[in-house]
Amino acid sequence: MPTTARSAPSAGPSPAPGAGVRRGPDHTPRDHDRPDVLTLEEVLARDPGDVRVLTGDRPTGPLHVGHLFGTLAMRVALQRHGVETFVVVADYQVVTDRDDAGDLPATVREVVLDQLAAGLDPETTTVFVHSDVPAVHQLMLPFLSLVSVAELDRNPTVKAELAASGRGLSALLLTYPVHQAADILSVRGTLVPVGRDQLPHLELTRTIVRRFDRRYGPVLTEPSALLSQAPLVLGTDGAKMSKSRGNAIELRADADATAAAVRGARTDAGRTITYDPAGRPEVSNLLLLGALASGRTPQALADEMADGGAAALKAYVTDALVAHLAPLRARRAELARDPFVVRDVLTRGAARAAQEADATLADVRRAMRQTS
Ligand code: TRP
Repeated sequence: MPTTARSAPSAGPSPAPGAGVRRGPDHTPRDHDRPDVLTLEEVLARDPGDVRVLTGDRPTGPLHVGHLFGTLAMRVALQRHGVETFVVVADYQVVTDRDDAGDLPATVREVVLDQLAAGLDPETTTVFVHSDVPAVHQLMLPFLSLVSVAELDRNPTVKAELAASGRGLSALLLTYPVHQAADILSVRGTLVPVGRDQLPHLELTRTIVRRFDRRYGPVLTEPSALLSQAPLVLGTDGAKMSKSRGNAIELRADADATAAAVRGARTDAGRTITYDPAGRPEVSNLLLLGALASGRTPQALADEMADGGAAALKAYVTDALVAHLAPLRARRAELARDPFVVRDVLTRGAARAAQEADATLADVRRAMRQTS
């Protein structure tokens, strides 16, 4: 029998992420009492009128199932709760770790189609492109005056991204966290859904607010982080699923491409199927995907699949994913047929974001006595 006797309470993902979120492995007790780091549960218990969300993505490629079960599910849950949400497509930040941004307008369009297909409603959620809102970037200048180079140099996430880029440290990468603070504060975001790796940027944003406050007066509000409890979804090569690694199952893919990606996913030589994320990451990731797509737990799926082997598991995962993604993909295809949908969403988004960012910039400059 396949019992690896792993009855360890699955620290894994909840089957319906964004629905009833528990504290996952990502949420250590250390964060538990920090008022600046909240869980979705805590946010959903609050009055939606008390929070404004700002979050974003760098448009480095189309979104994939890892995003769907993680950040996109969270965004849709917040939207459903009635929280006003701004989503920035951070096109200026694509070249922080590469020279070639590719066909950026095309990638921006794909990312926006993915967001809309996943359920973001442009009537209530503002989606805007960085470069459409100049005041965001103008705000970065006063903010740069509030932080030291030494401080930026110590940022652990910048260090990690520097190492991953295999390049020298550009001033754009060094100041990336300040740019992100400008994104957040320009629209007066008070809640920022992010992964753990982004917490240092949030900390810097809060520092900027406190320093501005001390020097010039109370104009800005310190935002809190909403720690995403997204399950870590691996790609077909066993590394973290990533837009730029070529290991993703894209939301825009069709059923055949999805089947091919799953078929090619790495597994191991074990003959039975067991859920053991630490010991058998690839097989466990297939179980996770199958579970997320079918609303079950990976453990339950493992028990059912025990003697079927990898081929049967892959067939299950393919069917579950294709069925789960079908409505999203149908919606996406329909949106993509209209050449004006994305353009209109972004035009309206830019106007709404600029309204906020222009006002924030004016308040900031007035407090600094740069204008009368
Ligand atoms: N830095 C984020 C990432 O790499 C993307 C991002 C840009 C962002 N601006 C933001 C996230 C503002 C939250 C808030 O994933």
